[in-house]
Amino acid sequence: MEQKVTVPSVAKAKAAGRALVALTAYDFPFARIVDEAGVDIILVGDSLGMVVQGLDTTLPVTMDEMVYHCRMVARARHRALLVADLPFLSYQIGARAALENAGRLIKEGGAEAVKLEGGCSVAKVIHRIAAMDIPVMGHIGLTPQSVHRMGGHKVQGRARGTRAGQRERVFDDALAVEEAGAFAVVLEGIPVDLATEITSRLSIPTIGIGAGLHCDGQILVLHDVLGLGDGFTPRFVKRYAELRRTAVEAVRAYAREVRTGTFPTAAHSFHSLAPVAAAAEG
Ligand code: KIV
Repeated sequence: MEQKVTVPSVAKAKAAGRALVALTAYDFPFARIVDEAGVDIILVGDSLGMVVQGLDTTLPVTMDEMVYHCRMVARARHRALLVADLPFLSYQIGARAALENAGRLIKEGGAEAVKLEGGCSVAKVIHRIAAMDIPVMGHIGLTPQSVHRMGGHKVQGRARGTRAGQRERVFDDALAVEEAGAFAVVLEGIPVDLATEITSRLSIPTIGIGAGLHCDGQILVLHDVLGLGDGFTPRFVKRYAELRRTAVEAVRAYAREVRTGTFPTAAHSFHSLAPVAAAAEG
C-alpha cells in the first residue's frame, strides 16, 4: 500500500507541487474503488442528499445520515484521507453545537477531518473546531447550503463587490478560512482567474471544483465521474465512464434471460452429491 495520506501530508503537497486528487464516496463498495485507485482525499459530502437520496438540495441532510454514510466509507478506505461534511445547521447555530457535531463525525463516523461551508461568517467556528485538534477543510464560492441566497447553484465571484458571493468577498472568505486555521479549502464554482489569485495568495492547498486548472488539487462527485446519474451534467464535470448505461444494459439482459428461461443454467445451480433415483424401487 502507498503511504497513508494524512492532514500534514495534504498540507505539504502544495509546497511540493504535488496535485491533490479528491473524490466523493458515500458507501463501502464505492469507497473501496476510490481508495484502491489511489485517490488522496475521500469526501463524504452532503451532496449525498442529491446524489443518493434524490433530493433537490443538500439542506435536509442530517447529522445522523452523515455519520451513517461516513462509517461505511471509513470501513472501506485504507490509504486516503477521510473528510466528512458538516451538514446544514449542524455548525451555523453556535460553536458548541459545531464542536459536538464535528466530534461525532470523527468519533462515530471515523472521519479524520471535517469540511464546512462559508468564509468570514464561519471563521470563528473553524477556529474553535481546529483548536480542538479536529482538522477543518473550508469550502467557499458556490456553497450549496446557500442555495436560496444564491438563487440556485450558480457561479459566484463574477461580479465585483464585497457582498456575499461577490468577487472581493470570496477572496476575503479565502483569507478568513486560512487565518481561522483550516488545513485546506475547496473552491467551488468561481472564475478561473479568481481561483488562481486565491491559490497563489494562500499557503494552504486549494481544491477546485468548477474553479479551473490552477488550484492545488481537484475534487468531483464520484457519480458524475462514473456517469451514474441520469440528470443534468454541469459544465465542470468530465465523465470518465458511462456506468449507468452499462448497468441498465446488464439489468435488461438479466430480465430477458429470466423471462426466456435461459437463466439460471446448470452452471449457476447446485447439484445433489448422488443422483436421485428416477422412480421408486419395487
Ligand atoms: O458535498 C460535496 O460533495 C461537496 C463537494 C462536491 C466539494 O461539497
